Amino acid sequence: MEQDHRAASLQYWEETHRTQGYARDRIRVDDWLDRFADVIGQTDKPVLDLGCGGGNDTLYLIEKGKPVIACDQSETAIANIQKNFPEVRETHCFNMLDPFPFADGSFEVVIADLCLHYFLEKETMQILREIQRILLPGGHLIFRVNSVNDIHHGAGKGTEVEHHVYETDAGTLKRFFDEADIRRIFSEFQIEYVHEEIMTRYQFEKRLFRGCVRKAEDHG
Ligand SMILES: C[S@@+](CC[C@H](N)C(=O)[O-])C[C@H]1O[C@@H](n2cnc3c(N)ncnc32)[C@H](O)[C@@H]1O
Repeated sequence: MEQDHRAASLQYWEETHRTQGYARDRIRVDDWLDRFADVIGQTDKPVLDLGCGGGNDTLYLIEKGKPVIACDQSETAIANIQKNFPEVRETHCFNMLDPFPFADGSFEVVIADLCLHYFLEKETMQILREIQRILLPGGHLIFRVNSVNDIHHGAGKGTEVEHHVYETDAGTLKRFFDEADIRRIFSEFQIEYVHEEIMTRYQFEKRLFRGCVRKAEDHG
């Protein structure tokens, strides 16, 4: 991400989290993680919620009794998490384009819900390498990303700066994936599940891919 995309993204999300700073009782949970209950249920380590935003998935995990580490680039999002979820003892404010502040092999489960579709392909792959690094062998990354079949894809949504990546009027980037993109970009992982579907958590239906990928076991 060139510096201006990065700065525009931070400004956009700070503003969004400032104006939508929900109280806990207004935060909506959807059941997309239920499919991966076995994966989430098996780990004794904290689950990492990347790009946690308002904390929809943080709340889901808390309700399942899981310790969560919540992260976002937005200080406002992190402050909201700390206010709404005193159970969350560890939060980190960092940009995923920078090295992640975790040691190698720290996690068995990383969740990245609607936060991996803001980058050029080489940036996305750099972020995925960091996720690989902080996962233990056999660990899982569970994610959702925009689909090319989403209503916001294409016409009228800014300039296409790279295949399936658009620059918006706000100066931010927005990527849309098809299944081939996912299989290519996540190819360093074992792809266990990828499925296109409609999410109804927002006011309008959103078409996206839900995925679960696994870091290879270490046989060395
Ligand atoms: C659409 S929200 C998703 C929030 C939450 N995961 C959910 O599904 O409700 C995207 C979040 O990703 C965060 N984000 C976007 N780019 C980021 C980056 N480069 N580094 C860290 N967080 C980022 C934003 O600040 C925002 O909170």
